[in-house]
Amino acid sequence: MPAASPTLVVASNRLPVVLSPDGKGDWSLERGSGGLVTALEPVLRDRGGTWVGWPGIETGRIKDMDRVLESAMEGVGYRVRGVGLTAHEQDDFYLGFANQVIWPLFHDFQAQCNFDPRFWKTYVRVNQKFARAILGETSDNDFVWVHDYHLMRVATALAARGAACRAAFFLHIPFPPLDVFVNLPWRFHVLDALLSYDLVGFQTARDRRNFLHCVRVLVPGVEMEGEGRVERLRRGDRVVRVGVFPVSIDFQEFAGMAATDPVSERVAGLRSEFPGQTIILGVDRLDYSKGIPHKLQGFKLALERYPDLLSRVVLVQLVVPSREDIPEYYQMRAEIERLVGHIQGEFTRAGWVPIHYQYGRWDRVELAAHYRAAGIALVTPLKDGMNLVAKEFCASSLEARGVLILSEYAGATAQLQKDALLVNPYDVEGVAYAIHRAFTMPRDEQRRRMQSLRETIRRTDIKWWVDTFLKAAFDEDLGESAGVEIYRPPPPEHLEFN
Ligand code: ADP
Ligand code: G6P
Repeated sequence: MPAASPTLVVASNRLPVVLSPDGKGDWSLERGSGGLVTALEPVLRDRGGTWVGWPGIETGRIKDMDRVLESAMEGVGYRVRGVGLTAHEQDDFYLGFANQVIWPLFHDFQAQCNFDPRFWKTYVRVNQKFARAILGETSDNDFVWVHDYHLMRVATALAARGAACRAAFFLHIPFPPLDVFVNLPWRFHVLDALLSYDLVGFQTARDRRNFLHCVRVLVPGVEMEGEGRVERLRRGDRVVRVGVFPVSIDFQEFAGMAATDPVSERVAGLRSEFPGQTIILGVDRLDYSKGIPHKLQGFKLALERYPDLLSRVVLVQLVVPSREDIPEYYQMRAEIERLVGHIQGEFTRAGWVPIHYQYGRWDRVELAAHYRAAGIALVTPLKDGMNLVAKEFCASSLEARGVLILSEYAGATAQLQKDALLVNPYDVEGVAYAIHRAFTMPRDEQRRRMQSLRETIRRTDIKWWVDTFLKAAFDEDLGESAGVEIYRPPPPEHLEFN
């Protein structure tokens, strides 16, 4: 940002806290789950500013929302401004347009979309509501940074109210290819909304390429001026910059947490709970995009094909509850639990249970201890904007001994492709093969790969991300591209051609 920094006003649907009634007339607070909160929290803590978002409760259930939020978040180093959603808005905006239209479509799950025409109208109204809340916190010199697919239309709403502040947008999820995007009844409206920002950021070069292709085909009158990392789009008298900024984590915070005494004690506890076994770790929000059933099938096949794994590995799988009011989500939970039961029934033997499955949340110590104790992380989304779990695992792997198995379809692959074991998550044989390969990988190779992964993540951590984005927003030179190449899969090692 320029010398006299404008105030940062961040807007996202989720705030870092979720409020819920504690049953005794007061409010309890839980941390919001998901990568967006993990990424933005250190940014706001570091830079200060205001975070505008929804604290997870219905309008009217809480009269003095901002006071409750303020006292709950005292001392965090930034201000929080709550936006309440009515029950109807939660249904049609959050569960509806955001999570039954954009989320499935942008993750290439067209068949899961529900293009109910009511959803769009509510989406527009809620974006206007957020714009009003933002304007209440912003002066013309401030910088408004809007996050994620819930709020794509905020810049349009700001402009309609005559706002003069600079507004940028970052999409945390993938942007789909034209053939998928074109199914959206509001395809033009969404592109027009994104083109109303001054800067639009994507996670990977592939997402940006998809977006530019959609604009080229669907929006008349846009000129493009390539400029390497940031492309300029000219439409009438407006210029929109479009760049690639792979989101990250606070590397030092994760590494530091993993080194604390409580975590070290818990790591020792986990090692004695699973003596002589390599922990294969899965941490996923409940979501069809995470490919949890495919992962379980891959693990099952690994146990069938590679008997040296029996009694020597344990899959510790945490599934974090999410969007449980949407049928696809609770159906997915039932499917996962059926599969887990099936695998346990087939393979459990005296002294060994192959899967430790938990549906719930871990606190920070528990999460860090699992990352550090794990020998293998199995991160196999069918599609993912970035996947911060993969980066958190590496940052917490203090002994540089773990192996990261990573889906080709995670945004993180663009940066980590050289040192992770990459898999096509639909190819269960490939997943099984990678599990065995990770299990048998010589220590030296593990160390070499993990050190390099840690170095990449350390170098391009969350501070790098925010600096690069803000430089682009203020038209400064961006320097090196830091590993955002499109991944091109090589021929598979485990499949024969004849
Ligand atoms: P997504 O954003 O789709 O959920 P990511 O892998 O990018 O996927 O981010 C998941 C985030 O959720 C990670 O930062 C992870 O640490 C965090 N997380 C995992 N378990 C919990 C938990 N029990 N409570 C809160 N956050 C969690
Ligand atoms: C992903 C999205 C975030 C979202 C998070 C959790 O990371 O990119 O915007 O906050 O999932 O989902 P939820 O629906 O609970 O906000």
